[in-house]
Amino acid sequence: MKKGLLKLVSVFMFIMAMTLVTACSKSVDNSAKNVNNDAVNETVDENAAGSDADAVVSPETDADSGSSDNSNESKEPEVTEAAKQEEVKVGKLPLVEGGVKGVFEKFGMIAGVCINPNVIPKYSDHVIQNYTSVTMENEMKPDAIISKSKSVEANDIVVAFPQNALNMLEWAKTNGIGVRGHTIIWHSQTPQWIFYEGFDTSKPLVDRDTMLKRMESYIKQVFEQLDTLGYFDIIYAYDVVNEAIEDNGSLRNSLWKQTIGDDYLWYAFYYADKYAPESCKLFYNDYNEQFKTNAIIKMAQSLVTEDGRSLIDGIGCQGHLYTKDSIDAYITMLEAFNSLGLDVAITELDVSLGTWPNKLLPTKENLQEQGRWYYEFINRIAEGNAAGTTCVSGITLWGLSDGNSWRSDRSPLLFDRMFLPKNAYFGALQVREYAGFDE
Ligand code: GLA
Repeated sequence: MKKGLLKLVSVFMFIMAMTLVTACSKSVDNSAKNVNNDAVNETVDENAAGSDADAVVSPETDADSGSSDNSNESKEPEVTEAAKQEEVKVGKLPLVEGGVKGVFEKFGMIAGVCINPNVIPKYSDHVIQNYTSVTMENEMKPDAIISKSKSVEANDIVVAFPQNALNMLEWAKTNGIGVRGHTIIWHSQTPQWIFYEGFDTSKPLVDRDTMLKRMESYIKQVFEQLDTLGYFDIIYAYDVVNEAIEDNGSLRNSLWKQTIGDDYLWYAFYYADKYAPESCKLFYNDYNEQFKTNAIIKMAQSLVTEDGRSLIDGIGCQGHLYTKDSIDAYITMLEAFNSLGLDVAITELDVSLGTWPNKLLPTKENLQEQGRWYYEFINRIAEGNAAGTTCVSGITLWGLSDGNSWRSDRSPLLFDRMFLPKNAYFGALQVREYAGFDE
């Protein structure tokens, strides 16, 4: 990486906030201690998109494309009384001292969580106690930050961060929390009109040169505005491109590709590299990478300048997983990415009960299976980081609790709807005795 002046003082402040995180240099330590459970004992609001921009694309993503048959969803098992009792028992267990971040830091990893205006500032204390990094669920996405009226007026893509994003950035800065920027170039949650002549979808798509100019201007404004607003010191990573590769390894036929061509990814990283501060790591982020590992490796290797300098710093693995998914396959993928010599982060972890077509209810057995899954998953990564076979620099949970998850009906997170810790919490935090093992 290259460019502009390092903001040493600010970066130092952020590095201080991440003091204990030294990637890939720590050994596994399962001795997390317990303290009193001060869990936020109330339900949270339902998740809301929270974007106040004038964009038009559905917030649906293709995160499970190829396997989204929900036809079996009616076959839901009953939650037995015994299961409910067991949930209460686990929920009453004391929380782990130091929170999620205390445990992940021992494994050389930053602990992150996704936030939205429903949980910040409401659950500030919970976030501060458990995490050192946040990702905004929707508020920094293209449809949230591109203004149509201003773009039409300027005949250029115009970026205007919405107030709810600014509020959360300010909150993060005040509390010494790092931010993963998410996301700039994506096929989803992106206004379609940015690709058309006169920003009018009834007209033809613009030509390659026009779209390249628009792309450069867009990326430049994102970084320039964050600089002007004073947030370069907290934004330590950015998902420059999200979900560009299909499950079969081919390049998704997005409007970015249709207007610019197959090299749009190269230009996205070229411009991000040109305008982002040195302190901000530039990521490619995707889902189902365990099924398209080679295509992503090939793509990442192609993101180099003529003199061989890499334009990309890291691979983000979303990690929207299931309790029936193979942990071995995921670790194999992390090991393959490790050989790239880039940063690797798990950026949107949640582990739903069951499989995509067959979701399971939060019975005692299913929650224990999930607890064991989280335990093994984090344990394998911790071991890999210690051995140098993986180098996962951080894990971001995609939500605070099952009550505010985009997959609420699949109970994928560490805390339940009452904000009480689940087996998954104890599993992720390596408290084996409460993770759901029969011993
Ligand atoms: C993808 C995106 C996220 C989010 C999730 C669903 O993983 O990267 O920003 O939209 O889908 O919440």
